[in-house]
Amino acid sequence: MRYGRLMTTTYAVLSEGLEKRFGEVHALRGLDLAVAEGTVCGVLGPNGAGKTTAVRLLTTLLRPDAGSARVAGHDLVREAAAVRRRIGVTGQDTSIDGDLTGRENLRLFARLHRVDGAAARAAELLDRFGLAEAADRPASGWSGGMRRRLDLAASLIRRPEVLFLDEPTTGLDPASRNLIWDAVRELTGEGTTVLLTTQYLEEADRLADDIALVDRGRVAHTGSPAELKALVGTHAEVVVADAEALVAAAGVLDRLTGAQPSLDRERNAVGAVTKDATLTLPHLVRTLDAAGVPLLDASLRPPTLDDVFLRLTDGPGPHHPFDDKERAA
Ligand SMILES: Nc1ncnc2c1ncn2[C@@H]1O[C@H](COP(=O)(O)OP(=O)(O)OP(=O)(O)O)[C@@H](O)[C@H]1O
Ligand SMILES: [Mg+2]
Repeated sequence: MRYGRLMTTTYAVLSEGLEKRFGEVHALRGLDLAVAEGTVCGVLGPNGAGKTTAVRLLTTLLRPDAGSARVAGHDLVREAAAVRRRIGVTGQDTSIDGDLTGRENLRLFARLHRVDGAAARAAELLDRFGLAEAADRPASGWSGGMRRRLDLAASLIRRPEVLFLDEPTTGLDPASRNLIWDAVRELTGEGTTVLLTTQYLEEADRLADDIALVDRGRVAHTGSPAELKALVGTHAEVVVADAEALVAAAGVLDRLTGAQPSLDRERNAVGAVTKDATLTLPHLVRTLDAAGVPLLDASLRPPTLDDVFLRLTDGPGPHHPFDDKERAA
């Protein structure tokens, strides 16, 4: 039993009340996180929520002002060196030297961290991330996706027990994104614990066993992706030609979703959020047809991160939940 325990689960990351201020900015206001060993935790939140600050604290790059944490079985502050030896981190900004080739970058990294057999380990990782062919070209000429994969490879040089990834796929095309996702899944298959931050609900959905929604420096909600989506529901919208049809469409949506529809009279649009996972677009359209509602457009949209935050912070209301002035600190 290497790590701190809570009940019967073993946690690779366990933080309590982590706080960090930057002058006036209270970036973290008591962050409680529990990441079970061998799982992927997705830390989701809007810009400025404190995701990167959390990663920098948990990887010992910054010292917390208050609170405590154990990472890979060691105290974050008192045993920072031990924590550092057991973790890997890929930051939001890539740490690759563009003048060096991919292979040289990895070897340099391996030497910096005194990894035995640096050359062999570099070759193994280049191969694993599909970078063997480009390995001996300067990284400055590599695509964003390739550089990101090289960055990830660098963070794996030391076979970390816990891997921290700060927005690993932001700005990447779908193919590169998939390569990173595959790599993360492979790692967790080998028992590595992964904490990744993301702004993409889909990414968390694909990878994470658990999600921690961070809002203004605190965890506002935790749950599995399915739990989160079930909380939020699918957004159905119908656009019609005139005000009369709008009322009829609202009646149909009300019946189908069991939720209070909201009307947009300017666009003659009506929307409602449903938690009924079986509602399909054909069924929605057929039901509207049967009710004699002349349709211009109909859509079903899965929940977005915005929807999640609307639901899980202040709920739908007259103000935007990200608006600081509306909430007590
Ligand atoms: N070194 C710093 N100096 C001053 N303020 C900082 C510093 N680092 C972070 N902050 C502030 O702390 C808050 C949290 O920032 P952080 O980078 O952790 O957010 P984030 O969730 O990672 O956002 P993003 O999605 O944009 O990456 C922000 O208000 C930010 O401006
Ligand atoms: Mg960030």
